[in-house]
Amino acid sequence: LRVLVLAGGLSYERDVSLKSGRRVLDALRGASIEAELRDADVSLLPALRADPPDAVVIALHGATGEDGSLRGVLDLCDVPYVGCDARSARLAWDKPSAKAVLREAGIPTPDWVALPHDRFSELGAVAVLDRIADRLGLPLMVKPAQGGSGLGAAVVRDATALPAAMVGCFAYDSTALVERYVAGMDVAVSVIDQGEGPQALPAVEIVPRNGVYDYAARYTAGLTTWHAPARLDPAVAAVVAETAIAAHTALGLRDLSRVDLIVDPDGQPHVLEVNVSPGMTETSLLPLAVQAAGLDFGKLLAALVGRAAR
Ligand code: DAL
Ligand code: MG
Repeated sequence: LRVLVLAGGLSYERDVSLKSGRRVLDALRGASIEAELRDADVSLLPALRADPPDAVVIALHGATGEDGSLRGVLDLCDVPYVGCDARSARLAWDKPSAKAVLREAGIPTPDWVALPHDRFSELGAVAVLDRIADRLGLPLMVKPAQGGSGLGAAVVRDATALPAAMVGCFAYDSTALVERYVAGMDVAVSVIDQGEGPQALPAVEIVPRNGVYDYAARYTAGLTTWHAPARLDPAVAAVVAETAIAAHTALGLRDLSRVDLIVDPDGQPHVLEVNVSPGMTETSLLPLAVQAAGLDFGKLLAALVGRAAR
C-alpha cells in the first residue's frame, strides 16, 4: 500500500497542517505503511495522474483542505482518500450551514446569526449589533463562518467590544457567525468508523490556562491542560458521545471527524462545530483521544487507509 499524505496548502492554517502532516507520516511509517508527504500545491494534479497512490490522507486544514475542493480534485483523479466526500466537507466547513443541518436533526447547537460583511456595512455597525445583542443576549461568540484553529474568533462579553470582534473576524472571512455563548466545559469528541459504524473515542476536556482556547493556546505546549477522558459524570459522558455520533451522521461524514462541544452545567451538550480534517499535531485533540482509548495512532490510521484503498 502506497499512501500520500497531503499537507500545507495555502490556508491560514498552513503551519498547523504541516505539523499534522509530519505526525501522520511518522505514525503511518511506524505502522509499516509506505507513506510520503507532499505539499498540496499546483503540481499535485499532474503528480496524481502520473503516479497515483493507493490512498491519500488529507492533513490539510482550512480552505481547500477542509472545504471539499481538494476532495473534488481527488475524486476527479479517482484517487481514494480517508474521510468524508467533497459535498459533506463543504457542508461541515460552513458553520452556519452545518448548524442549520444539526438543528434540523434535533441536535443542540447554540443560537446564531450569520452576518455577511456587506450587510454589516450597509445597515451600520450599531444597528446590526443592537439587533444581534437583542436577539442572542450576551456574552456572544464571534467567529468566521468558515475557518479554524480559533483564528478570527473572539468572546464578546460587553456590547462595546462587538465592533472590534466583528472587524477581527472579517479579516478571515466575508461572513461572520455570531453565536450565543454557552458557558460550560469545552470538550472534543473524536468519532471513528472502521467499518462497523461510527464510534466515539473518550471525550477530551480542554482547559486553556488563560481561559481562552485561541491559536496560541492550541499550539503552544504548556498553555492548555487536557483531561482525557473528560471529567464528566458517566451518564453525561454517554449523552455527549451519542450527540457527537449524531452530529457526525447528520452531516454525512465518514471514517473520522472531531466534534467540538460545550457541556453546560446541567450536563446538556451543545455542538459548536464538526471538523472533517481535525488537527493531528503534538497538541491536537484527536491523537490525545486515540491515546486515551488505548489505541495506537499509527495502526488506526493504517486501518483507515486500508479501508479507503479498498
Ligand atoms: N482546525 C484545527 C486544525 C483543528 O480543528 O484541529
Ligand atoms: Mg474547526
